[in-house]
Amino acid sequence: MSDSTTQQTALHSLEEKFQEKIDADIRIEPKDWMPEAYRKTLIRQIGQHAHSEIVGMLPEGNWITRAPSLKRKAILLAKVQDEAGHGLYLYSAAETLGVDRDTMVEELHSGKAKYSSIFNYPTISWADIGAIGWLVDGAAILNQIPICRCSYGPYARAMMRICKEESFHQRQGFEILLTLSRGSEAQRAMAQDSINRWYWPAVMMFGPSDTDSTHSAQSMAWKIKRFSNDELRQRFVDMIAEQIKVLGLTVPDPDLKWNEARGHYDFGPIDWDEFWNVVKGNGPCNKQRLEARVKAWEDGEWVRDAAVAYAEKKAKRKGEDKATQAA
Ligand code: 3HC
Repeated sequence: MSDSTTQQTALHSLEEKFQEKIDADIRIEPKDWMPEAYRKTLIRQIGQHAHSEIVGMLPEGNWITRAPSLKRKAILLAKVQDEAGHGLYLYSAAETLGVDRDTMVEELHSGKAKYSSIFNYPTISWADIGAIGWLVDGAAILNQIPICRCSYGPYARAMMRICKEESFHQRQGFEILLTLSRGSEAQRAMAQDSINRWYWPAVMMFGPSDTDSTHSAQSMAWKIKRFSNDELRQRFVDMIAEQIKVLGLTVPDPDLKWNEARGHYDFGPIDWDEFWNVVKGNGPCNKQRLEARVKAWEDGEWVRDAAVAYAEKKAKRKGEDKATQAA
């Protein structure tokens, strides 16, 4: 047997063992052998997920100074800080796969790495904070709970904490809308207008339909994804169709109708042109979101430099102390 045939046989056997572990629900950890394509898929997905959390702080951060009460301000501030924390866990999880954070950030800033389409829509009223919590975080939870069982250990563990916090986010969003829906006519109208603008982008958040999803089949075989984009989207539509009744408001879909035979709600056509337009960088706020991230990165350079200088100083002192003790 030639050297290259021997290498190919060895690789094949490693791949088989890897898939056996996945099939047996044994977690893959950073030091375990993994196919290069599995590693790359995770870096792509976790990186995109981390960027989404960080960019997701911007539309909500827009309302911190204008929240209608001190209590609302404190809650929103805590929520936006949670999103920053989620981004950090996720960047750390991606780093265990051998990519460094500066590379990921550079890819976001250059437009090479994607982040969730949803954060390219503007927050023009206070009710939007409610709609983001209820619809966007609600969609995020449905998508992310299955990731707690993802085959890659560090990603799955990061998701457990994130999902607990997202659950609080969703409730606070619903509570904002509930309060508005029981308020004045103007407040009810504000809540309805916000749902009208956020509903379809939230439905699209789950990604392209299964027939157009390039990564789903492989990611499901590797148990990175446990459910397809369309399966999760259907769960979302079913959940929201019931919860909206409590608000006494409506979703902007005249075709939404319970289908007894399917045991699910039927829903209207999705505007995929709008989705791809936003994903390709032409949504209402793509440019401003990226500019804000780049500015924050540049403005924060002195903080990163100071942290590195402090760590070096501390390490040097520790070294000197050890040398003194040894003498
Ligand atoms: N926005 C932007 N791009 C999207 C997208 C979306 N909503 N949905 C899919 N895409 C992109 C994919 O990245 C992929 O592009 P690429 O090949 O250039 O990387 C392409 O569209 C094809 O889609 P696939 O279905 O084949 O891609 P995936 O298998 O990766 O599925 C996903 C997409 C369902 C978003 C999956 O990556 C996933 O579950 N990711 C983890 C969760 C996540 O990132 N959520 C983002 C929101 S986080 C959030 O909302 C924060 C919360 O605090 C509010």
